[in-house]
Amino acid sequence: MAKKEDIEYDDVSKIVLIGDAGVGKSNILSRFVRKEFCLEFKPNIGFEFASRILQVEGKMVKAKIWDTAGQERSRAVTSQYYRGAVGALLVYDITKRQTFDNIQRWLRQLRDHVDSDIVIMLAGNKCDLKHLRAVQVEDGQALANKEGLLFLETSALDATNIERAFQSILIQINHIKRLRALAAREAAAAASRRGQGTTVDVADASGSAKKIGCCST
Ligand code: GTP
Ligand code: MG
Repeated sequence: MAKKEDIEYDDVSKIVLIGDAGVGKSNILSRFVRKEFCLEFKPNIGFEFASRILQVEGKMVKAKIWDTAGQERSRAVTSQYYRGAVGALLVYDITKRQTFDNIQRWLRQLRDHVDSDIVIMLAGNKCDLKHLRAVQVEDGQALANKEGLLFLETSALDATNIERAFQSILIQINHIKRLRALAAREAAAAASRRGQGTTVDVADASGSAKKIGCCST
């Protein structure tokens, strides 16, 4: 078990935040990690990350969450940003249709850089601004169904579904890691069975029996 700042954890999972500028990525992160929200818009430059250790299905998991700028000019950092990510929160702003229309582009970029079994959640943020809604819940859900993503509407301002979004991603990551570990154990067991081979008795010309190991390669 690894240990940091006196809190022990069993596993680390890297989750990346992506989506257009101003959709609320940094506030989702600060709400989740520090329970803080900032009304003032402070666009990111480059990228940063913050961590929180939480319990997921009885396991202590360190969620390492990476945040970057949604602005076009900052998108050169992609490879390093995505490297090792096992989860992604793909964010749009329910009051700005364009941020939803750009989701496909973000999804393509994400899928170009990560393993196919990464867990992706689509999040329609700022759901507290119901009177300004430009994207219906059904549209978000339909896109998520079509692309095989998890889906929630969130609000970093009033904390709606922020905890739930990360919990859901981490639970799904946990399931995938368990499946991967099981597959690796089965492959190792199969390899070891092949390595041991089978033993057969062969009688030589003098009539005494010799044991010969037989392996398939
Ligand atoms: P970039 O770093 O430029 O990519 O933007 P970002 O996606 O990190 O957006 P950020 O978190 O900085 O939020 C942009 C603005 O939206 C800020 O003024 C926030 O206060 C506001 N905001 C973020 N989340 C919410 C929310 O859930 N509800 C409301 N009403 N405002 C929000
Ligand atoms: Mg930001």
